[in-house]
Amino acid sequence: MTFEFIKVNAQVAKHIALVELNRPKELNALSRQVMLEIRDALRALDDDDNVRVIILTGGLKVFAAGADIKQMADATAIDMLNIDQFSTWDQIKKTRKPIIAAVSGFALGGGCELAMTCDMIMASDTAKFGQPEIKIGTMPGAGGTQRLTRAIGKVRAMEMVLTGKFISAEEALSFGLVNRIVPAELLLDETIKLAGEIAKLSPVAVKLAKEAVNNAFNSTLDEGLVFERKNFYLTFASQDQKEGMAAFVEKRAPDFKGK
Ligand code: CAA
Repeated sequence: MTFEFIKVNAQVAKHIALVELNRPKELNALSRQVMLEIRDALRALDDDDNVRVIILTGGLKVFAAGADIKQMADATAIDMLNIDQFSTWDQIKKTRKPIIAAVSGFALGGGCELAMTCDMIMASDTAKFGQPEIKIGTMPGAGGTQRLTRAIGKVRAMEMVLTGKFISAEEALSFGLVNRIVPAELLLDETIKLAGEIAKLSPVAVKLAKEAVNNAFNSTLDEGLVFERKNFYLTFASQDQKEGMAAFVEKRAPDFKGK
């Protein structure tokens, strides 16, 4: 896969793919083209049987400084409506394999929203998160008022969205926005380690479990419990469930095939 603004390595480690934003002069600003490339890469990796977990990073300097302000500055509401840039985000959300964001430096506006669209966030000690759209006369449009509120609670999200202030990696950790903080130079290695823990498990069970956790945001508790139960039952149709339980009984390591 070759792209202009992202780099893709389909096997950065066993069963782990890496997608790296590569628009350094613009601090990885998420132009329409960048988002289309991310969407196309994730779609291809989701279809690749060798890939079980995807890491999305901006590199060590910056994750992403948000949507491309220069591209949007003169747009009318109808331009925005017609461009329908957020349909790309909806497609990214549909990725069935786990995506881990590895965030170093700024994750602002659409950058913070992109990290939150992922399933987990590993942060370097230099990471800074923010929804500063209010400072340029607009507001978050790719989930910042919704995912952030669900992740860190109303009053904290309200403060970030209404003032545009940034939070540090430590604050993000204490608010429950990120999984952990690691030194910047270890960010990729530690993220690969976390991805590796998931990649050795049953891809079928991982997919169904991700779907069930995400469903918690869109359902009542009772609906979510029914959904979870059905996915749980469905794992029993997989060879991986038979292998996993047989391996436990036989006191050996399981060998999951994703079937
Ligand atoms: N869009 C387009 N270009 C951007 C950009 C963005 N979001 N962020 C930075 N850049 C560009 C700058 O214009 C600059 O380009 P030039 O060299 O051509 O002038 C280059 O990247 C470097 O940026 P700075 O000189 O500003 O770097 P800095 O280190 O002084 O500041 C920063 C870094 C605090 C991240 C600052 O660049 C900044 O505030 N960026 C904008 C952040 C923002 O408001 N993001 C929200 C965007 S709207 C959005 O995301 C809507 C949504 O919900 C989808």
